[in-house]
Amino acid sequence: MNALTALSNHQPASSHTGSGFSLLPSAQSPRLLTLNFTDQTTRDFLAKVAQWPIQALEYKSFLRFKVAGILNDLCGGELQPLLLNCLLNREKGALLIGAQGLDNVSQADEMVKLATAVAHLVGRSNFDAMSGQYYARFVVKNDDNSDSYLRQPHRVMELHNDGTYVDEVTDYVLMMKIDEQNMQGGNSLLLHLDDWEHLDRFFRHPLARRAMRWAAPPSKNVKRDVWHPVFDIDSQGRPVMRYIDQFVQPKDFEEGNWLSDLSEALENSRHILSVPVPTGQFLLINNLFWLHGRDRFTPHPNLRRELMRQRGYISFSATHYQSGQ
Ligand SMILES: [Fe+2]
Repeated sequence: MNALTALSNHQPASSHTGSGFSLLPSAQSPRLLTLNFTDQTTRDFLAKVAQWPIQALEYKSFLRFKVAGILNDLCGGELQPLLLNCLLNREKGALLIGAQGLDNVSQADEMVKLATAVAHLVGRSNFDAMSGQYYARFVVKNDDNSDSYLRQPHRVMELHNDGTYVDEVTDYVLMMKIDEQNMQGGNSLLLHLDDWEHLDRFFRHPLARRAMRWAAPPSKNVKRDVWHPVFDIDSQGRPVMRYIDQFVQPKDFEEGNWLSDLSEALENSRHILSVPVPTGQFLLINNLFWLHGRDRFTPHPNLRRELMRQRGYISFSATHYQSGQ
């Protein structure tokens, strides 16, 4: 089952103290929740998974689910249904997740383990062609000559969905901050589709559901173009989106200008959330009805930012999903 066919109406509690973690609405929006693992949970989790280096999780896929189970057990079995409820709830669908005591780049491997555990409670992370692994770590520095805006600091990375140029279902995106030095600015930008003032206008346009061509630059290591429309609907007829400005290849004047208008209408939304993500924390969002981007940074010669991402599909058995209801 993937999120497109299984979007749920279950309402998660928006504030909750579970065993081993706390859950609160964020300062930015009631749609974005903040989940924090206690110091005890963090220490117990890292001790229990210390036997497996990251390489073990890379080589043996099932171990990613094993570490997920360990984290869920430490949270009294409450974590998995709660994460699924938040992610699948159209009113929410986004979490900022942190763990006390996990906030320094020297703990980068531990950060990847925690994020892996969380992601594999809700589904499975896809192969990332850029890194050749199920996750990708990458560094942003002051100078960059890459072929997309992903690593270019001094400009906004416009709002988009992930997974637009691949065939794999990309229900969720996880974006973690591993390190940050000499940074000013660069907040994550988020827009919930239902908060976008212009959704109706673009969703109802005849071009909204015309298949368009999507092609990635060489650094993405994806050779084949894919075809799909910008908009689709979920099982309940609500709009979902699969869009990124840099990789869509309009075939003519009409498509090009419609896309250009759409891009402008997204960037000018008054409902974009600006979210600082501290070192060691990560955003986990439903990629079907949240768009994400990144604000510009202030240049600094010793600027360094390291990020980790995972993208994948949401999958669950009824037993696990219902257990926390
Ligand atoms: Fe992205």
